[in-house]
Amino acid sequence: MAQNKKNILITGGLGQIGYHVYLRLRRKYKICILDNKSSAKVDPPEDVFFIEGDIQDYKILESLPNIKYIIHCAAQISPEKSVQNPIYDAEVNIIGTLNLLEYARKNHVTKFIHISSAATYGDPQFLPITENHPKEPLSPYGLSKLTAENYALLYSELFDLDTTVLLPFNVYSLLQKENDPYAGVIYKFIKRIKEGNPPVIEGDGLQTRDFIHVEDVVVAIELALTQSKAKGIVLNIGSGETVTINELAQHLISISGKKLQPIHTDSRKGDIRESCASIELAQKILGFNPLVKLKEGLQELYEKIEL
Ligand SMILES: NC(=O)c1ccc[n+]([C@@H]2O[C@H](COP(=O)([O-])OP(=O)(O)OC[C@H]3O[C@@H](n4cnc5c(N)ncnc54)[C@H](O)[C@@H]3O)[C@@H](O)[C@H]2O)c1
Repeated sequence: MAQNKKNILITGGLGQIGYHVYLRLRRKYKICILDNKSSAKVDPPEDVFFIEGDIQDYKILESLPNIKYIIHCAAQISPEKSVQNPIYDAEVNIIGTLNLLEYARKNHVTKFIHISSAATYGDPQFLPITENHPKEPLSPYGLSKLTAENYALLYSELFDLDTTVLLPFNVYSLLQKENDPYAGVIYKFIKRIKEGNPPVIEGDGLQTRDFIHVEDVVVAIELALTQSKAKGIVLNIGSGETVTINELAQHLISISGKKLQPIHTDSRKGDIRESCASIELAQKILGFNPLVKLKEGLQELYEKIEL
């Protein structure tokens, strides 16, 4: 049975999303992970073919076994770092992705899933954000992710490579940390509340986000892996529901059972005000239906997160 399993490469497989993809797919596929450990959240699992290396290095890809599928999660993911060092950001996110697409083209990879980001949209001009919303990224990170996703789509057109671009919104899980650019706010609130301090909200707290549990994201990735209708397209992956940061703080306070009143500070510059994914297309193409309700996900995090 084990011999029949196909090889799947997860880049960034030691990171938040990549590791959960590994957990979901390990029974069905032989997993290879390529990760340079720059923002790894876990150690390499024992049952994978692990290569410690950088996606910028094409040569390293030549040491891979016969890969059938690629799920490309490795990236420089911090908008802040991308402003400090846009060249590094572009080298990892654009050249690194291009290396993998080239590898996929030359080695007849059956399916390439590129994990992009909602940061490619920039400030929402309408809500919920559909896949044809204008793309005007606000950071070098958003721009490098957009360029990489355009390459993935172009490879589908030019070389008939079966690529699908998935755009997660704000992903949360037990592996996230305080500095996580997408859902670090959840960790920060939990930490403050567990320590008996009120959560600190930047601005008036009326800003909205679409938080999606990592388990739902990996279900979407697995669906995209086998769905031929997803070839050459971009799909939003969100919960389709929004929450204000005030509501998020209140949910966590009530989970804790403590009597705390959030504190407000100045708002953060450059933050988008509102965000909400339209997931209609992912529902139609993939049959995607997020299952984890935010309150349940927060309860799990509050109980299990280790500070
Ligand atoms: N976390 C979110 O909410 C979110 C939202 C939208 C999009 N994304 C995208 O999802 C993907 C995964 O994000 P994540 O939250 O798991 O991030 P993460 O930082 O937890 O994981 C990224 C992994 O990639 C590895 N890596 C980074 N640069 C590398 C390189 N040059 N070569 C090889 N490995 C490298 C890191 O060591 C890490 O293990 C990224 O492409 C990110 O842009 C994430």
